[in-house]
Amino acid sequence: MTGACAGDDRHGLIGRREWLRLGATGAAALGLPACAAWEGDASSAELPPLRARAGPGDADWDDVRAHFLVEPGTAYLNNASIGMPPRQVVDAVAAGYRAMAELPARGRSDLSARIAEHVVPGLAKLFSVRPDELTLTRNASEALHLQSIGVALGPGDEVLITSQEHPAGRRPWEFRQVREGIRVNEVFIPSPLPPEEEVLSRFEDAITPRTRAVAFCHVTRGGHLYPVEAICRLARERRLVSLVDGAQAVGQFPVDLTSLGCDAYSVSLHKWMLAPAGTGFLFVRRDARDRIRTAFAPDATPEQPQFDPPGTAAFPVRAAIGTAVDFVATLGLEAVEARCRFLSDHLKSRLAEVSGVTLLSGARDRSAPGSTIFEKEDLDAVAAVGAIEASISSHIDEHQRDGHNAIRISTHIYNTTEQVDRFVEALARTTG
Ligand SMILES: Cc1ncc(COP(=O)(O)O)c(C=O)c1O
Repeated sequence: MTGACAGDDRHGLIGRREWLRLGATGAAALGLPACAAWEGDASSAELPPLRARAGPGDADWDDVRAHFLVEPGTAYLNNASIGMPPRQVVDAVAAGYRAMAELPARGRSDLSARIAEHVVPGLAKLFSVRPDELTLTRNASEALHLQSIGVALGPGDEVLITSQEHPAGRRPWEFRQVREGIRVNEVFIPSPLPPEEEVLSRFEDAITPRTRAVAFCHVTRGGHLYPVEAICRLARERRLVSLVDGAQAVGQFPVDLTSLGCDAYSVSLHKWMLAPAGTGFLFVRRDARDRIRTAFAPDATPEQPQFDPPGTAAFPVRAAIGTAVDFVATLGLEAVEARCRFLSDHLKSRLAEVSGVTLLSGARDRSAPGSTIFEKEDLDAVAAVGAIEASISSHIDEHQRDGHNAIRISTHIYNTTEQVDRFVEALARTTG
């Protein structure tokens, strides 16, 4: 790493229109060299400056809302599905594609330099790992596939997953079951999530002498926060490979991937991290490279693991991850967590006033800050989502899985208590 920024005078092609304050503060928050936030237009430069937040209330976040392009009047409460990139990120993607259209080879090399010198080190710093432990991917699904097929398993070997895994975490193992004769076992995890000891004892009971790996979410689609460190500890004691799906975790609260103790961890950056669609990464712990191998290079070694999928990448999209990382780092992940929790606490207290509502999200230490699931008596969740969306111009989601008939509300920093109230009032009116 040279510590220089793509787009500076050395690279030259993509003229620096303006050093956005965001670029400088975000980089400073990460202890990286200050880079232009690739190259916001005048509208981004005029945005209120970003700064660390004083508190979690609506007024503390009013100026942050100005950075988002959401349709006026729309309450976007489906952030666990896909997040909303701020204006700077949108501008950075556009600027990157423009650079590649103006002079493709130089555009590509400038963007590649930014990815290597700013994006990957920024992510590594934010998630407490070494840059060479991260591989950028198109999404969490790609990373989950790579981490799953990277584990050496033979016919009859078993992998343990949980009943609440996303298809992206389940399908790679089912693929191996059909193709290679491995066996996929499932441990049932109920909602609301039980206390840590019960989750652990369910895992312990499901491990057999043939189990070789455990694969599970950090945060499930419904927002349950699994006790990852404890499950990884159990895996180490039993000499099992531990593989985590972090698609719903990163960007909602601080995550220290080294302390979690997992061997591999797969990430979406286009949900809570507010990066452009089509971004994620795979983390493989350095000393797990003997157990998790690349799918691409026959000559890979633990020193040269070569996890990168080969071929031309979406360079402008990847380079713009840096702008999203700067954005989130400037606000601070602790502040993001407090804000998301404030909004979901407000939602929960309002839901308690609606008759027939059963909350399926557990206590604070067992639920992610931003996602809440609940059922309402005699209400079909899928039909209700459509009816509520139409009646109050909102975006919400159903959670008709894991045996539930639930609605999921996922609130991010830019949502407001007024939007939550509007939703709860619509829910109270909705029947059938
Ligand atoms: C728990 C979980 N894992 C994986 C995924 C897949 O993420 P991506 O779309 O980034 O592949 C999702 C998407 O909603 C998810 O909720």
